[in-house]
Amino acid sequence: MTQDEMKKAAAIKALEFIENDTIVGVGTGSTVNHFIDALATIKHNITGAVSSSEESSKRLIAHGIEVFDLNSVDNLDVYIDGADEITKHMSMIKGGGAALTREKIVAAVAKKFICIADSSKQVELLGDFPLPVEVIPMARSYVARELVKLGGDPVYRQGVITDNGNVILDVHNLSIVDPKALETNINAIVGVVTNGLFAQRGADILILGNKNGAQVVK
Ligand code: A5P
Repeated sequence: MTQDEMKKAAAIKALEFIENDTIVGVGTGSTVNHFIDALATIKHNITGAVSSSEESSKRLIAHGIEVFDLNSVDNLDVYIDGADEITKHMSMIKGGGAALTREKIVAAVAKKFICIADSSKQVELLGDFPLPVEVIPMARSYVARELVKLGGDPVYRQGVITDNGNVILDVHNLSIVDPKALETNINAIVGVVTNGLFAQRGADILILGNKNGAQVVK
């Protein structure tokens, strides 16, 4: 199986967690794109979706799946999203696709976060993948200096503006031994909108695609 086939297998397996007549929280990325395509096959059984990005909204709408504003939805049973890295403790790095803030908001509302990923995303320790941080544009240099004080090497993601009109700093070489504490500390820097550590609210279930298909890991 290729990496993309593993992503697809995990995405299709996630359909087993979708209840009829519910609104589904939908993440962003290449794995989620497979999930959206799979969701389209059962679209008549669901009420619709809440989306974490303009990119996912476009794909959902193209499939004829209604996209609801999060403010009009009281609760979500599940949020399905990918990850750039995930540990056995279900802490993640996300934001490779720059959608981290909306992802974190939709995940906060959902009862269950179901992470879908290929097996390459499972790691012992977070941090080989540079940690994305969404920043208010005028605070970019200040936030970068503060991130250096935390031991990281921030790199401005050139040419990328988030759906919220902000910029991304990708922080390399962080030692992430305590993801919950680092998530809190980075979010406390003035000018940071949020960072791509999903540790305070990690995943509840992991569906991992591997060479044998897809397995529910937890
Ligand atoms: C989007 O901002 C990210 O959080 C994605 O969920 C993450 O980068 C995983 O993406 P892939 O499914 O494309 O690997």
